[in-house]
Amino acid sequence: MRRKIIAGNWKMHLLADSAVGLAKSIAEDLKDVNEVDIAVFPPAPYLILMKEVLKGTNVKYGAQNMYFEEKGAFTGEISPGMLKDTGCTLVLIGHSERRKVFNEPDHLLNKKVKAALDFQIQPYFCIGETLEERESGELFNVIETQLKEGLAGINEKQLESVVIAYEPVWAIGTGVVATPDQAQEMHAFIRNWFLKNYSDKSAEDIRILYGGSIKPDNIKGLISLKDIDGGLVGGASLTAESFNQLVRYSR
Ligand code: PGA
Repeated sequence: MRRKIIAGNWKMHLLADSAVGLAKSIAEDLKDVNEVDIAVFPPAPYLILMKEVLKGTNVKYGAQNMYFEEKGAFTGEISPGMLKDTGCTLVLIGHSERRKVFNEPDHLLNKKVKAALDFQIQPYFCIGETLEERESGELFNVIETQLKEGLAGINEKQLESVVIAYEPVWAIGTGVVATPDQAQEMHAFIRNWFLKNYSDKSAEDIRILYGGSIKPDNIKGLISLKDIDGGLVGGASLTAESFNQLVRYSR
């Protein structure tokens, strides 16, 4: 039985006080929840603050990005070891905003996934097609390529630590959520890709989150679907009220 995950991607929002306040409210309000994995991805400067705020709680935290090298002349980048120092245990890799705004290609994301695994940081590997790719009928090829290239060289044992987040680009921050049929169809396709390329067990065990305009009023229709194991939430993760509701609705 796969445990559901509700994860909040705070993107480039909040400042120290509001980030700490939000983390505290989430941890306090949800302390009785033990059926769902809860995670937040604050902006990098605030990760270190989470070490104290989320210590001993059921809320995990992670970074929104990471470089793959251990150290060196990479101005502006953050290494896996630095992330470990903040106490975080998760990292988003390949969010569509990293792919699109920062031009991160699949082969770079593959190095990041590997580096995260080497450092025992759990990668949430994000994939998703644009509207153009969906409308042209290329959507399954696009997703297949992202999986194949992003996870190249990852073995079955390592895969146990990977979480997949399917986020159709056209649904992110737009208010246009994928219909349950669209989401389930793609999640089933992704699970089947793991069946073909790994094993029955890998396909059965891997957790595949949906992301893109999740709100308290649409979560139930998504989370109840067979192949959807939770949500990666942007906008609705920025207030404790809506985020906590999402977690409660996912139980
Ligand atoms: P959204 O963002 O919930 O605001 O659409 C989701 C994401 O980008 O992870």
